[in-house]
Amino acid sequence: MRKPFVAGNWKMHGSKAMIASLINDLSRAWQQGDKVDVAVCPPFVYIDYVQRTLNNPAIKVGAQNMAAEPEYGAFTGEVSAPMLKEFDCRYVILGHSERRSLFGEDDDLIARKVEVALNARLTPILCVGETLEERDAGITEQVIERQLQAVIDRVGGDAFADIVVAYEPVWAIGTGKTASPEQAQAVHAFIRDKIRLLSAEAADDMIIQYGGSVKPGNAMELFSQPDIDGGLIGGASLVADDFLAICNAA
Ligand code: G3P
Repeated sequence: MRKPFVAGNWKMHGSKAMIASLINDLSRAWQQGDKVDVAVCPPFVYIDYVQRTLNNPAIKVGAQNMAAEPEYGAFTGEVSAPMLKEFDCRYVILGHSERRSLFGEDDDLIARKVEVALNARLTPILCVGETLEERDAGITEQVIERQLQAVIDRVGGDAFADIVVAYEPVWAIGTGKTASPEQAQAVHAFIRDKIRLLSAEAADDMIIQYGGSVKPGNAMELFSQPDIDGGLIGGASLVADDFLAICNAA
């Protein structure tokens, strides 16, 4: 039985005052750690402050990206896997659609980052998803397959037991246009079936999150789908009551 997992992707939001308030509220209120895994993913500069402010071991911390280079070196502006481990990060979001569309990250770079994260014993949250144009063109599964295959080619199918996949339809991110439970379930089942062709165990064990305008009002219906194992939450993760409601719905 898979344990649901809900992560908050804060994107480029945060301040010490906001974090103090949000993290104190989450630390005090979150009591379902035995039923649902929860993580928050702040901007790099706040990871240590979040760790020092957290007062609930059931809430883990992740990063929103990571360098493809495995160690240290002349890579101005980059943050390495060992640096994230030094600050007790458990997860790292990789291949978010904003990294792909705004910062030119391609499937091969993302696959290399996933391999480095696994080797550093970080749990990647690998984001995949199609644009509205791709969905309208009927090529959603081809897009998801291409994005997954780049990672499979590099790390193999068995590795997906240790990779969280987040299906985030680009057209649902930040738009309020959430995928229907049926739409999301269909893609989640496609993802799991693709991995099952390589490893039945990994397919059964892997966590597949849905992301894209998850709110307290739609979380329970989404998370009740058989292949939706939780969510990757953007805007709603910045509001303690909303994020807690979503975590409790998982
Ligand atoms: O990574 C999660 C994020 O892309 C979803 O954003 O605001 O639609 O929940 P939002």
